[in-house]
Formats: sequence, structure tokens, C-alpha cells
Amino acid sequence: MTPCVLITGASFGTGYAIAERFAKEGYAVFIGGRGKKYGEDVDAAAKQLQEAYGCFAKGVLYHTDCICEQEINALFEQIKAEGYPLKACVFNAAHLGRGQESLSVKFDDFMQVIQTNVGFNFLIAQHAAGQMKQNGGGSLVFIGSNSALRVTENRCAYCSSKSAMLAMSKSFAVDWGQYGIRSNVILPGMIKTKRWQENENGIQNLLANRTPIGDIAEFEDIANAAYFLCSEQARCITGTELTVDGGMLAQLTPKEE
Ligand SMILES: NC(=O)c1ccc[n+]([C@@H]2O[C@H](COP(=O)([O-])OP(=O)(O)OC[C@H]3O[C@@H](n4cnc5c(N)ncnc54)[C@H](OP(=O)(O)O)[C@@H]3O)[C@@H](O)[C@H]2O)c1
Repeated sequence: MTPCVLITGASFGTGYAIAERFAKEGYAVFIGGRGKKYGEDVDAAAKQLQEAYGCFAKGVLYHTDCICEQEINALFEQIKAEGYPLKACVFNAAHLGRGQESLSVKFDDFMQVIQTNVGFNFLIAQHAAGQMKQNGGGSLVFIGSNSALRVTENRCAYCSSKSAMLAMSKSFAVDWGQYGIRSNVILPGMIKTKRWQENENGIQNLLANRTPIGDIAEFEDIANAAYFLCSEQARCITGTELTVDGGMLAQLTPKEE
């Protein structure tokens, strides 16, 4: 039976590349997003995926500024109603919490990042695991960040949330392994996003050429890692992290240009 995957924040960029990877592997794909009011059109992304790969693809909507359990329930009912067993869930959506200077950041703004990256992901994982348990197992993959381990300035909430994701994923691995559910985290370093291409805040020059491999991640590098962790090849891998950062985290000081 055709399995399905839910990917949050998948209407463009990294998330869409992850959706493409699963579509190529024959999955039915649910593209999660906040919709046109906040972000991109999930239905347009699903249509594009369907046309490109001939797979089943559907957009599903949620809110992250005001998280509603009933809404998440309804989303998972929608997935169930399509009849494809949920076997994978990739948590790509993130509140980037940029420019939050620790001395002056408002508590509400700090908590919005934690609520999105920890609370919302917890609720999605709990619902996904409920279905996976019924489906005989599945795989959860959190797109974390290498800043869970070594931080960047003025992003206390973001780095803390990505760090919390490590313990959350380990907890899921321990609590739900008995149901055949695995849970792992990918730690990207820098990714070649539109922001990076447009060299916002001079980020293109920041570290990109100074990793051990002299490069940073393409969207596909993250997508390949996400698919691998959901595949049968990774059947014994759970409760751990896979760093995909060109070796950035391993070096104490950036390589000379
Ligand atoms: N870019 C990097 O260099 C880098 C480095 C390390 C880790 N990461 C991680 O890798 C993942 C992808 O990164 P990216 O740069 O490609 O991300 P992005 O494009 O900025 O955002 C990914 C998705 O998150 C959703 N999103 C954005 N703001 C949100 C908010 N406030 N609340 C809920 N959802 C929100 C968006 O979906 P909708 O607008 O459609 O809802 C978007 O598609 C993220 O988890 C990020 O933390 C990225």
C-alpha cells in the first residue's frame, strides 16, 4: 500500500525539496503550511508536485501563532481519510527567531519561537505517532540545526528550541520504539536558501566557503538525509542526530579562505 508522509513548512525551499524526495520514492505527500495569509500556497505546491511526479499530493493547513489542538486533530483526520498509511513525518517548519537580542527581547516574542518549534512540533508528533502506532510503525525526522549545539548570537530562543528538539526526539525514540516508531534529528549548518542566494545580511560570505568541505548544504542534501532516516536502511537508527553541515560543527575555527 502506498505510504504517506507529512512534511511541515513544505511549500518551498528545503521543505519542498524534502517533499520531492519522498514523491520520487513513491510516497503520497501531504504538504503542511500556514497558508497564504502568512506564507506560501500549500495547494499550489501540492499541485506542482503532483504534476511533476504523478504522485498523490495535498496541502494541509495549520496555525502556529495560536496553536489549536482541534485544528491539529482535524488535520490528521484529513490525512487518515485519504487512506494512505502515515509512515513518515518530517518537521521542517521553524520560527527562525532572528534578531532577538537577549537583553531586550520581549517575553512573548521569545515564547512564540519556543511555542512553534517545540510546542507545535510536539503536538504534530503526538498525532503522527498515534496514526503510526496503528500503522505498525513509522519514522519522525526533525530538521534541527547545528546551532542546537553551538549557538549564534541574538538567537537565544531559536537555539534553545533546536536544542530542546534533541531531547524531545530522544524521548519519542525511547517512548515509542515499542510501536516501531523511530525518531531522529538532522542538524543542518547553513543551507543555500533564497535568503542565502540573495546574500541577506552578508550571510553568503559568512562561513560558506570556510567549512572543511568548502561548501554548505543544498536543499537536496537535507532532503536525502531526511529520506534516508525514514528508509529501511535506517531501521536500526533512532534517538540520534545526523549533522549535515559540511563539517562546520567539527572545526574549532573556520578554515582560512
Ligand atoms: N537555512 C539555514 O541555513 C538553516 C540552518 C540550520 C537549520 N535550518 C533549519 O532547516 C529548516 C529549513 O530551513 P529554511 O531556512 O529552508 O527555512 P524557511 O524557508 O525559513 O522556513 C521553513 C518553513 O517554515 C515555515 N515557517 C516560517 N516561519 C514560520 C513560523 N513563524 N511559524 C511556523 N512556520 C514557519 C514556512 O512555511 P509556511 O510559511 O508555508 O508556513 C517555511 O516553509 C528549518 O527547520 C531551519 O530551522 C536552516
